[in-house]
Amino acid sequence: MKDLTIIDHPLVLHKLTHMRDKNTPTAQFRQLLNEIAHLLAYEVLRDLPITHQRIETPLVAMDAPVIGGKKLVLVSILRAGNGLLDGILELVPSARVGHIGLYRDPKTLEPVEYYLKLPDDIQARTSILVDPMLATGNSAAAAVTRLKQAGATDIRLCCLLAAPEGVKALHAAHPGLPIFTAAVDEKLNDHGYIVPGLGDAGDRMYGTK
Ligand code: URA
Repeated sequence: MKDLTIIDHPLVLHKLTHMRDKNTPTAQFRQLLNEIAHLLAYEVLRDLPITHQRIETPLVAMDAPVIGGKKLVLVSILRAGNGLLDGILELVPSARVGHIGLYRDPKTLEPVEYYLKLPDDIQARTSILVDPMLATGNSAAAAVTRLKQAGATDIRLCCLLAAPEGVKALHAAHPGLPIFTAAVDEKLNDHGYIVPGLGDAGDRMYGTK
């Protein structure tokens, strides 16, 4: 599928296995997420346009490639999105950052928005929405809708794990939206958790359970 990219590089898969392991402690989980974020970003940003800049090496002058085109905004779906955000931001430190606070109503599994802060010029930027877990797809779909309402037109989602149900729901709500993930797991369970998954990403990142 053109709008679903699975980043199954051996380094990503290896680190992901350690993140899935329930015995992996919080600090290591966070470190692994940070490292995987770098590797995911490498693919998510692969098609950034290149322009050339005249520079002088110690030997000669040359037209050397630099990133051109639209500037980036990284938008984190709170709170688990922050784990991916930090790693990607290390690679593109001048990107702007937005935050969308959404929690899942535990009964309906529907997203409820409690916070929104986006840069004013989002329409002129490429938006990278980050959330480690694409589960039901409801939160991601709601976040994409909010980005579109704010004027964003060029949006892609970077996650770590996806459920087939989430991919389907997000593409039903936003056809053609590019999704990047390290793996598409088997299914969602009755509580909306990805199986086999890695548990609650926020809790595992911050040690809250
Ligand atoms: N959110 C999580 O943190 N984990 C899941 O499995 C699903 C949603």
